[in-house]
Amino acid sequence: MIVSEHNVRHQAAKLADKSPKEIIRTALEQHDAIAVSFSGAEDVVVIDLAVKIRPDVRVFTLDTGRLHAETYAYIEQVRSHYSLNLEVAFPDPSSVQRLVNEKGLFSFYQDGHQECCGVRKIEPLRRQLSGLDAWITGQRKDQSPSTRAQIDVVEVDSSVSAEHPLVKYNPLANWSSARVWEYIRLFDVPYNPLHAQGFVSIGCQPCTRPVLPHQHEREGRWWWEESTQKECGLHAVNLPKAANS
Ligand code: ADX
Ligand code: SF4
Repeated sequence: MIVSEHNVRHQAAKLADKSPKEIIRTALEQHDAIAVSFSGAEDVVVIDLAVKIRPDVRVFTLDTGRLHAETYAYIEQVRSHYSLNLEVAFPDPSSVQRLVNEKGLFSFYQDGHQECCGVRKIEPLRRQLSGLDAWITGQRKDQSPSTRAQIDVVEVDSSVSAEHPLVKYNPLANWSSARVWEYIRLFDVPYNPLHAQGFVSIGCQPCTRPVLPHQHEREGRWWWEESTQKECGLHAVNLPKAANS
């Protein structure tokens, strides 16, 4: 498929009502250079569906160096459970060293998460995506009313290169959290034990906390910041221009 706004919008319209499995099947049929991005949380559902279609599907995870011990153990559990072709991407050591030596290990509580996420997540993601034509994420509309309500099941992603945009598939876009958890229970999918401790949305340890009953899951992420800023940049396309700069 030639990646243009027109073609991708057409495909998004065709796939809008399809199941996550059908969306993933189409994605894997359309692209050879495609991989699933796995955060170590309930997006494991994407892996569970994808390996049923293509057992050796490429999966990558960004190891920021700041994940919970439980998440590291869980990622390895998922790797062996699915005999996964899993790539772990690390941040550039000299960039991390410069940031930490200049500003310490918790600068994000003072001047926001963008810089640290830039070094630990965005740069490794760009490197990872640079060899791909398409990627598959576990993003859902209900994860964030302020930034994800508009996501499509298929989008153009120009964040790495405007000249060679990628196609980004969000097969769970229209699933609710409840639907995801129903799937996890129904198919006995391994899940991150932090979910049993009140964590709903899970990212890096210093930037994630459990939520209380009826608190939105996003309130457990970067809780000291405005809700419109609660994207680390992996999904920069979700942000309005002003918040994205
Ligand atoms: S984030 O942008 O706020 O960190 P979130 O945790 O909601 O993202 O996850 C949404 C999707 O982004 C995941 O399903 C996954 O596809 C991708 N993602 C998030 N964090 C990572 C990570 N550390 N490694 C790989 N993919 C990730
Ligand atoms: Fe750094 Fe927090 Fe972003 Fe992780 S989520 S990369 S620790 S600012």
